[in-house]
Amino acid sequence: MKVLFVCLGNICRSPLAKAVFQDLVDRNGLTSHIEVDSCGLHNFHEGDTADKRSINTALNHGLKLSHVARKIKPQEYHRYNYIIGMDDANIKALKELLPPTTKSKLFKMRYWDTTAPNADVPDPYYGGMEGFEEVYKMVSRSCQGLLEEVKGNLHL
Ligand code: 4NP
Repeated sequence: MKVLFVCLGNICRSPLAKAVFQDLVDRNGLTSHIEVDSCGLHNFHEGDTADKRSINTALNHGLKLSHVARKIKPQEYHRYNYIIGMDDANIKALKELLPPTTKSKLFKMRYWDTTAPNADVPDPYYGGMEGFEEVYKMVSRSCQGLLEEVKGNLHL
């Protein structure tokens, strides 16, 4: 199973989601069964490392975040089993990009957040560290449900 987290710039939210979900996958002994990556809808940060505030938020929670930003490629619409957008704008853009046969792969990150199902993971780029901590919390709450969903489709 292959899971791709998508945000706008691929420097703040989706790299953090990738770090949180990868950690959960590893702790559940599923590293060789679930592949995790992240990308962006835009190329304005292509080649950049993740935002320092995402890196530091991850570190504050004991997670190492290393990622180089990139824009989603058309072949990835087919390659991944789950394509997870962070907010309604991401979902709208992905709906326009994805071929009709692949649209069922598309989910919103907080689909699995029982405290506010399907709410946005807001863009923290123009705010302070507290916004990144909020992103971490929203993503962490959602990742357990996502893991259960993905595990249900693993034929082990
Ligand atoms: P992200 O945040 O989509 O969570 O990576 C953003 C990063 C940069 C910009 C917008 C959103 N930007 O406009 O440069």
